[in-house]
Amino acid sequence: MSRIFSGVQPTGDLHLGNYLGAIRNFVGLQDDFECLYCVVDMHAITVWQDPELLAPHTREVAAAFLASGIDPTDSIIFNQSQVTAHAELAWVFNCVARMGWLNRMTQFKEKAGKHRENASIGLYVYPNLMAADILAYKATHVPVGEDQKQHLELTRDIAIKFNNDFGAEFFPVVEPLIFGEATRVMSLRDGTKKMSKSDPSEYSRINLTDGADDIAGKIRKAKTDPGELPGTESLTEDGRHIDAEIERTRPEAFNLLSIYAALSGQTIAATLDQFAGSQFSSFKGELVDLSVSKLGPIGAEMQRLMAAPDHVDQILHDGANRAAAIAAPVIKEVHKIVGFLGA
Ligand code: TYM
Repeated sequence: MSRIFSGVQPTGDLHLGNYLGAIRNFVGLQDDFECLYCVVDMHAITVWQDPELLAPHTREVAAAFLASGIDPTDSIIFNQSQVTAHAELAWVFNCVARMGWLNRMTQFKEKAGKHRENASIGLYVYPNLMAADILAYKATHVPVGEDQKQHLELTRDIAIKFNNDFGAEFFPVVEPLIFGEATRVMSLRDGTKKMSKSDPSEYSRINLTDGADDIAGKIRKAKTDPGELPGTESLTEDGRHIDAEIERTRPEAFNLLSIYAALSGQTIAATLDQFAGSQFSSFKGELVDLSVSKLGPIGAEMQRLMAAPDHVDQILHDGANRAAAIAAPVIKEVHKIVGFLGA
């Protein structure tokens, strides 16, 4: 049986990359699969979070899930810390994963930066907790943006090593689901950098709660180049993707075009065809209109939901109970397999 799991950190300022790379894809999967969508507050505290803001930020992610169209009566929406299975399984995985594997994680290197010795141990073992999130439910498919690919490789390695070490065909080897026309949304200020919450410039990203004026201002100021917009000659032979070499020469242009394609629900090929030879100024006008019409209602609904915290908290609480019921027998079986007395 297939089961979907994915998570989003409540670190504030959800942005267009989170939406196009992940949350929007969560919505469509609900019709065909059992889905668990988790606000990963335990992951968030691997770097400092103001305790006053963690709960509101947790509600913000839940509100984004709901406002984007995730149905809480169908899918399970919850926050990680309310289900103890995540921490319990993460400990077992800390004993399965190897230092050498974690040393290769590029996200740790990026986040720890030059101050590696000062990074939390939590940040280092972050991918083990991520594996526990997924495997506590024996999830088989994980929709994410491209930046999470390496972490999912590690989840696969952990599942395989656990199964081998204990001679049990227990955990599934998960498949990443990385799809859509914008699996890696780049900064609006620098097309070679990922759009990210940690970028100090507000103009680098569109936040999901931005109003129409902010969206318009950020798109109008977005970096471009002096050329006209490229056309379908920039595609790979199969006509479905932008050629990586060509993309490298004009990263800002292709980022904006990919955003347009993803928001409009049309292919990148159709988008290139539509705007080939246009000036950036007219294209940006169209992108503003499209972005405001697609993101405006989501932002407004998020604001409405965040103003009713009890309602959102109840959804997270109910979701946590449903999630815990799925994870409990898995954890029990893990204890038995490992040999803990009392299982
Ligand atoms: P997080 O909170 O950084 O991001 C949430 C989701 O948004 C995607 N994303 C992007 N996609 C495209 N372009 C971007 N610029 C961009 N920025 C972020 C991410 O790929 C992600 O899908 N480690 C995860 C959270 C997590 C998780 C899990 C995910 C914890 N446990 C288990 C899946 C399964 C993270 O940091 O996401």
